[in-house]
Amino acid sequence: PRTIYLTRHGESEWNKEGKIGGDSQLSPNGVKYAIALANYINEQNIKNLRVWTSWHYRTIQTASGVQAPQERWKSLNEIDAGVCDGKTYAMIKREYPEQFAARDKDKFAYRYPRGESYEDLVARLEPVIMELERQGNVLVVSHQAVFRCLLAYFLDKNSEELPYLEVPLHSLIKLTPVAYGCKMEQINFPI
Ligand code: F6P
Repeated sequence: PRTIYLTRHGESEWNKEGKIGGDSQLSPNGVKYAIALANYINEQNIKNLRVWTSWHYRTIQTASGVQAPQERWKSLNEIDAGVCDGKTYAMIKREYPEQFAARDKDKFAYRYPRGESYEDLVARLEPVIMELERQGNVLVVSHQAVFRCLLAYFLDKNSEELPYLEVPLHSLIKLTPVAYGCKMEQINFPI
């Protein structure tokens, strides 16, 4: 049986500042995670492993030490926060109070002005999911909102639960197909 490994990038400089989106580099702790992840994956000797990252610097940097063929997918980029990109949640609440409230009310359907909704993201990820279904062992290095959508698909969660699924930093999720659906394991790296 094959395994799908999912991990968010290591902590980025913008994660540290609480800013969403962007294309920042890993923080020193993020770099530590990238090293721990590469050591772990490389030791497992996973057969025909392939690595998929987004186009963002922080995912490419996180996967850089993993010894396996790598592919970059633009469709794995983080949700586009449009006019809110680069802001903290506190700034969004202050500068766009109606937007902040609307998102809270229906987080799945809410679309950032000039950006995306979770619903848009689900549509963007459809080709990725189809290709994932055909693959053997894959390590996907991507982002919080993207993984909420992938987990909802593989673990059969509805659109109300989806935007709130927990996908912590510095933790590796292993999905293995079982009779109906998928078994999920989580490995936390103390950084
Ligand atoms: O804060 C990290 C991040 O990946 C942002 O780039 C993104 O906008 C956000 O998480 C998605 O989470 P939520 O939908 O809960 O705001």
